[in-house]
Amino acid sequence: MEFSHTPVLLKECLEALAVREDGIYADGTLGGAGHASRVLEQLSPKGLLAGIDRDGDALKAAGERLEAVRRARGEEAGRVLLIRDNFGNLPKIRAEYGLPPFDGILLDLGVSSYQLDNRERGFSYLGDAPLDMRMDRDQSLTAEIIVNEYPEERLKKILYEYGEERFAPLIVRQIALRRRDHRITSGAELVELIEAAIPAKYRQTGGHPAKRTFQALRIECNAELSVLEDSLPGIIDCLAPGGRLAVITFHSLEDRIVKNAMRTAQDPCICPKDFPVCVCGRTSRGRVVTRKPILPSLEETAANSRSKSAKLRVFEHC
Ligand SMILES: C[S@@+](CC[C@H](N)C(=O)[O-])C[C@H]1O[C@@H](n2cnc3c(N)ncnc32)[C@H](O)[C@@H]1O
Repeated sequence: MEFSHTPVLLKECLEALAVREDGIYADGTLGGAGHASRVLEQLSPKGLLAGIDRDGDALKAAGERLEAVRRARGEEAGRVLLIRDNFGNLPKIRAEYGLPPFDGILLDLGVSSYQLDNRERGFSYLGDAPLDMRMDRDQSLTAEIIVNEYPEERLKKILYEYGEERFAPLIVRQIALRRRDHRITSGAELVELIEAAIPAKYRQTGGHPAKRTFQALRIECNAELSVLEDSLPGIIDCLAPGGRLAVITFHSLEDRIVKNAMRTAQDPCICPKDFPVCVCGRTSRGRVVTRKPILPSLEETAANSRSKSAKLRVFEHC
């Protein structure tokens, strides 16, 4: 299967990263290397791109694409390091590979079109597939385990919070009834349960009825929000002076985490407002470049519907 993924907010990301030809860059969500290949095109042999993805299939396809860029540039080509890992481990990765601080780091969160279109991965509510949804196929937790083994209350909370699914109680009720009878193993069976749970008059609005539940299960399965929240401060500290972190989010919860982490990095002081001087000793890591997030243009959203919910935020290390 061909790895196709249209990079979102590409021009805006390249502008935000302001790539220097001898700079050191990290793409923590390499995917199809849509953004990374454009960064690599600008690097000289002194420059380096570390491409990280926790999905081995993505890494292999991205590696081929990046190699093609290198071949086309011949002796002028920049260096590439491919790493199968979680971007949450970036500080550890940097230490392990002996990398200097980065001039730019990109995170383009969520799943790629390739992962969605590749039915056997179970990310899509279209067609039938096993309930998998793991980005890292070595991980043990799958969507099937979540659907069949999580307590009802926990499942409801996940659907409410990560999917903003207002019919979460009705959907979880259907799941609970079915799993008393047998284990739910297929995406098609889950879609059928969701459709039966959502009242008929609401089934036609707000996109596919299973979209929100599938999104919620994917976020839980891959611990997407906790990885982001726990790792952003350490990722910011992997930047060189003047280095920039650019993060593209697709979900309001993700965006809030990124916004708060960048604000805290800019102004980490926790002293009471009326203290004449700071005693907590926390110093600013830099500045938020984007007071408001950068959104895709109308042209981009018309050409690529996946970009509609995208937001780009940028932080510059001091
Ligand atoms: C939206 S795609 C990136 C697409 C890429 N920017 C491009 O233009 O081709 C997100 C990728 O990040 C990977 N990913 C998501 N969360 C990750 C994490 N915590 N650590 C490493 N990779 C992650 C996914 O496996 C997926 O391949």
